[in-house]
Amino acid sequence: MTQKTALVCGAGGFIGGHLVKRLKSEGFWVRGVDLKFNEHADTEADDFVIGDLREQSVVRSVVDRRFDEVYQLAADMGGAGYIFTGENDANVMHNSATINLNVLDACHKRNIKRVFYSSSACMYPEHNQLDPDNPNCAEDSAYPANPDSEYGWEKLFSERLYLAYNRNHGMECRVARYHNIFGPEGTWEGGKEKAPAALCRKVALAEDGSNIEVWGDGLQTRSFLYVDECVEGTTRLLRSEFEGPVNIGSEEMISINDLAKMVIAISGKDITINNIPGPEGVRGRNSDNRLIAERLNWAPEQPLKTGMEKTFGWISGEIARRHNQKAA
Ligand code: NAD
Ligand code: GDD
Repeated sequence: MTQKTALVCGAGGFIGGHLVKRLKSEGFWVRGVDLKFNEHADTEADDFVIGDLREQSVVRSVVDRRFDEVYQLAADMGGAGYIFTGENDANVMHNSATINLNVLDACHKRNIKRVFYSSSACMYPEHNQLDPDNPNCAEDSAYPANPDSEYGWEKLFSERLYLAYNRNHGMECRVARYHNIFGPEGTWEGGKEKAPAALCRKVALAEDGSNIEVWGDGLQTRSFLYVDECVEGTTRLLRSEFEGPVNIGSEEMISINDLAKMVIAISGKDITINNIPGPEGVRGRNSDNRLIAERLNWAPEQPLKTGMEKTFGWISGEIARRHNQKAA
């Protein structure tokens, strides 16, 4: 039997790094491409190309064969501190849209059928996410469109691009809407980190008896999906007959203050919460998993706490490692 091949765009990133490991464990020959290597783990890809997917020539050179599976995860992205300040809007839209236009067209020209595209829950309309206890993120609530960030508008445009190639060019692209993915080997400092990693870092660094800063009143809600379950849902969707768009997220909704309390309890420290102004995004968001359960006969189920324990352990370890390096 010939070995299956996969291309992972954004393989130097958080989810891409985990996906490469998964595909290797399944026996694939994997090419990764990214602007950079992953900062936290050596890549397991057979071939790793450092390249800029905004450049058509780079994209054509990495899409040089009929890969069995292509995963397009490369994007200019970050957490609330990156996408809700407004300062990065032009770059986010330009960079991510250019990547998607290039990768999809190169795949079409190579006669590749299956491309996975990672959209985001950020494409859902703001008006359905005003009530923190009752957000509506059912897939069919996407229109009339009204995302609260340019990042979300780019995701919506690109979703439509992939589905248009399905309709007009006979492709079989698959579109998922990820809901806040977290876990080890993700960004945990520098401004692009999301709430789970940011809160783990703050708690790990805080002295016993002190406080940590949490943006907003802490009553805003989200759900968070552990990266292994995200990768599971991703490969299942790509290999299924369902094109999506479909949510890949957890239905375990929690307020941000309760998430902070969970991390504090995991740490065993005596720490209080100081709510301060900061970029907040939508008031409430939760995955709605009815469609994925119906179409893929699968939905994630790991409790949030299990993943947060692993993530806190990993970030604490990174901080300790750095501390020891400085001391040596
Ligand atoms: P990430 O930032 O860790 O990974 C994205 C990777 O894309 C980075 O390594 C980056 O260097 C690379 N990249 C950016 N511009 C590039 C370019 N011009 N050429 C080549 N590579 C480039 O993010 P992630 O958390 O792994 O997310 C992966 C995908 O999933 C992204 O498309 C993101 O928008 C989407 N998504 C993620 C989440 C989440 O919570 N992590 C939620 C919704 C959607
Ligand atoms: N990042 C961060 N850091 N967020 C904090 C912090 C902090 O120190 N303190 C409180 N928060 C609050 C934010 O104000 C926001 O209301 C909430 O935690 C969640 O923030 P993030 O995890 O950064 O982002 P998000 O859920 O609003 O959006 C993320 O998820 C989308 C998919 O669901 C982003 O990563 C998007 O890029 C992604 O597409």
